[in-house]
Amino acid sequence: MSLSISFTKEPKKSVVNFVVPLFKGESFAAPGLSKAAVSFVKHALEKKADFKAGHGEVLDLLMPANADEERVIVLGLGDAKALTAVKAEEAGGKLLACLNGSGLKDVSLLLSVKAKGLELKEEELGACLANGAVLRSYKFERYKSKPSGKGKKPAEEKKVEFSKLAIVHEHSANVKKAYDVKKAISEGVFFARDLVNSAPNDLYPESYAQIIKDELKPLGVEVEILDEKKMLKLGMGAIMAVGQGSARQPRMVVMRWKGAAKKAQEGGPLAFVGKGVTFDTGGISLKPGAGMDEMKMDMGGSAAVVGLMKSLALRKAKVDVVGVVGLAENMPSERAYRPGDVVTSYSGKTIEVLNTDAEGRLVLADCLTHVQKKYKPRFIIDLATLTGAIMVALGYEYCGTFATDDEMWSQLEKASASSGEKLWRMPLDEEWKKQMQSDVADLQNIGKIARMAGSCTAAGFLQHFIEDDTPWVHMDIAGTAWRKSDMALYPKFGSGFGVRVLSDFVMSNYEG
Ligand code: BES
Ligand code: MN
Ligand code: ZN
Repeated sequence: MSLSISFTKEPKKSVVNFVVPLFKGESFAAPGLSKAAVSFVKHALEKKADFKAGHGEVLDLLMPANADEERVIVLGLGDAKALTAVKAEEAGGKLLACLNGSGLKDVSLLLSVKAKGLELKEEELGACLANGAVLRSYKFERYKSKPSGKGKKPAEEKKVEFSKLAIVHEHSANVKKAYDVKKAISEGVFFARDLVNSAPNDLYPESYAQIIKDELKPLGVEVEILDEKKMLKLGMGAIMAVGQGSARQPRMVVMRWKGAAKKAQEGGPLAFVGKGVTFDTGGISLKPGAGMDEMKMDMGGSAAVVGLMKSLALRKAKVDVVGVVGLAENMPSERAYRPGDVVTSYSGKTIEVLNTDAEGRLVLADCLTHVQKKYKPRFIIDLATLTGAIMVALGYEYCGTFATDDEMWSQLEKASASSGEKLWRMPLDEEWKKQMQSDVADLQNIGKIARMAGSCTAAGFLQHFIEDDTPWVHMDIAGTAWRKSDMALYPKFGSGFGVRVLSDFVMSNYEG
């Protein structure tokens, strides 16, 4: 992480730049600042009528010569009553955007904000502000060449980079404790973002599997890689069909985090499954060329699962979890699978391929069977950038979420509210399951009525691979895994969507 966060009881003597949060309607107070600075800020707040301390508003002030401080940035937090953890994180994100352009390197944030009606604990507020800043600070620069060091550097590289945020609070150890949990989750988010942002000539099934192993094994996660020989031998005909057109053969990676006490493991592990199509050309049912580069993000579901596993391990979560990701590259070639092919999935069900671009569901089918056969999980949640149709329905904001189990849905809805990753429940229906039955084989891989309810028929297809009594949730993250422009907590491109909501979901319901 390029932004470092520290926690102290008092600001260091050498510090001259400060951030002071302020709620709407409250008067400015900052016990840690000099009298001259406080009266200057108060004066400025009186004169600057358009600054109302609204949520995420910032007022950046240069201090006068008679003050000990150089800069004081007032961070508006809006109505105290309306400030949730998510809102506090967003304010932290906005603060970081301001600090990035400020020319400052480090600041101390004075966290003593007595405000009427504030439900969030001060410690939690501090942790959220810091975490929001961290989430916003993410950068992906792997493919930028380093400046050679010879000759003059371009002006851009001389820019001072903001890099240190100190949170000052009398109970700084408590703020740090609250922050450390969030930090573990954010590191999972960053790993997921890195994976999604990786170029597809760099991240393909074999290399991806190795990256997962290298990252997670040292953290205590068991990692098993199934290669193409193993998968063929097991009869995983669906994932193998998707990858057969590519020179880079498929992999399935199984990750296991055993953090629960023996007894708590009895109900079976929690299972998370992810679609990891490292590049989706559509195959023989080729996609149009424009924007095809974005299909490197078609492994976003798997990245969320891998990121989740990383954060579980980092915070040593007391829970038993298995993660399964299906990795394949969907390419057209003389070896590629074609429309009309009939393949036999690992479950034994045969599938008539009517469109090679509906490949994600084939990959997931074999992963779902594997995780049920081998691990008898307590429930399964899968994540996949599965359909363009979910973007037509819900845009880039909401993840379409299909659930067979009402209790799980209600737990997820709460986790959605607490994490800020938005979920919207979508319907499952026997009708859509029926529409996926083929005249030629057991199933077909696209719906019978062209384009209609595309996300729902995709879910209907997957449901054929869920054994009756296993609670199952399918999250279609095609709209949320990738951001086209910067947002408060999500710089553009890979978002790492899923890690935060599922971390909250696991933490609130299954750890102990
Ligand atoms: N990976 C795509 C879905 C997708 C589209 C993800 C845009 C992110 C952005 C998926 O494999 C796909 O191609 N789905 C088809 C299904 C259709 C052929 C039934 C689609 O949505 O068009
Ligand atoms: Mn596709
Ligand atoms: Zn795809």
